Amino acid sequence: MVAYGEDAVSRITVIGTGYLGTAHAACLAEMGFEVLGMDVDQEKVDALTRGVPHFYEPGLEPLLHSGLSFTTSYAEVAVFGDVHFVCVGTPQRAGSYRADLSQIYGCIHALGPLLDRPCLVVGKSTVPVGTAERLAGQLSRISPAGHGCELAWNPEFLREGHAVHDTMRPNRIVAGVTSARAEAALRELYAGPIAAGTPFLATDLPTAELVKVAANAFLATKISFINAMAEVCEATNADVAKLSEALALDPRIGGAALRPGLGFGGGCLPKDIRAFLARAEELGVDQALSFLREVDSVNMRCRARVVDLARELAGGSLRDQAIGVLGVAFKPDSDDIRDSPALDVAATMHRLGATVTVYDPVALGNACQVHPELSYAGSALDAITSATVTLLLTEWQEFCDADPEEFGRVVAKRNIVDGRNALDADPWREAGWTYRALGRPY
Ligand code: UGA
Repeated sequence: MVAYGEDAVSRITVIGTGYLGTAHAACLAEMGFEVLGMDVDQEKVDALTRGVPHFYEPGLEPLLHSGLSFTTSYAEVAVFGDVHFVCVGTPQRAGSYRADLSQIYGCIHALGPLLDRPCLVVGKSTVPVGTAERLAGQLSRISPAGHGCELAWNPEFLREGHAVHDTMRPNRIVAGVTSARAEAALRELYAGPIAAGTPFLATDLPTAELVKVAANAFLATKISFINAMAEVCEATNADVAKLSEALALDPRIGGAALRPGLGFGGGCLPKDIRAFLARAEELGVDQALSFLREVDSVNMRCRARVVDLARELAGGSLRDQAIGVLGVAFKPDSDDIRDSPALDVAATMHRLGATVTVYDPVALGNACQVHPELSYAGSALDAITSATVTLLLTEWQEFCDADPEEFGRVVAKRNIVDGRNALDADPWREAGWTYRALGRPY
């Protein structure tokens, strides 16, 4: 048994209760640890204390039960735990590609002076390589426990919409550590998933930080690769859906992150590749990552190309057209609209003069706050009623299962842009729809 203080690791704190921290805290409690979640936002803490997540994540709510409490107090955190996970946000800095690390530094500087006994602080947030080493030095300087207060970096790979599964059964655990004691503590903490077969990789701090950004850069590159192929398909009348299917059958390539369409969004991939580019520049290795600029450009072009398809179907101009949009979350099974390609397309069409009515099963509240100028409907049928063009922009299952006849009865014109290559084109065409998707012949 590994001890920080007198006991084996059993009391854990999780600082930052966003998508990542809440899932992590709830899953650790489910694994049998006593967990205290902490956030500076009183409203979030109140909701979580009532057992209600402040965001949509399938399977999370039933885990917000005993063994788990929440606070807004760093002092309570310091007293409570022997292992402290840092899960605060690292968004893109306004007007720059770099990551805004103010929440991470704020957290370490608030917590450090309160840590008066040996403990392990474990960063989970995605940070530019080199951050952890800097933080480790600062932590041991500002905490009364001094070098007894260690820092480790344990990046998180969960996908929104699958957060519970990915946390309980991750495909790997990466632990950036500077001592055998820290490694042993993390092995003990993750004994459940390790026993179930999850590989555990101990690394130094910079490697652990890099694994995370490299993984997201690779996923983004795969998505932009297939979307670049879609552009080539359009120029050659080839079919990117078949192309992707055929490529995926090569096990060296694989089908994950190879679905063509509107491209990647969310709070992670877009900002992570930009922060990686910015960090590479600081390190003098910008050439090594210059391809990520293209990855970003291909991705942003997808949005413009989907708007072009809608404009084409509308007869050349979106002005005064009634447009029905299905889906605004950045992906299905999430209410997250951060850098959502779907919401971006909806807002662009509005700027071009269209009357855009949007429906999403769970993301309408979030979307409405950021884009009050759009119209919001309570169902898919309401959103597309009288539409001259319908766009499927987030592939929620209910849209994939839609009946082209039923939809056809309410629209003004049977025009559909399948922004996610999620529909089987044949039944839609048979029902009289003009079906268009990026990279597909028509
Ligand atoms: C991503 C990574 O997949 C996680 O491993 C990582 O932990 C997380 O970022 C993070 O850094 O926190 P997530 O953003 O939840 O997870 O979503 P993904 O499922 O990777 O999808 C990202 C975007 O790419 C979505 O907009 C999705 O619609 C798009 N996508 C995904 C495609 O356009 N094509 C695909 O084939 C796959």
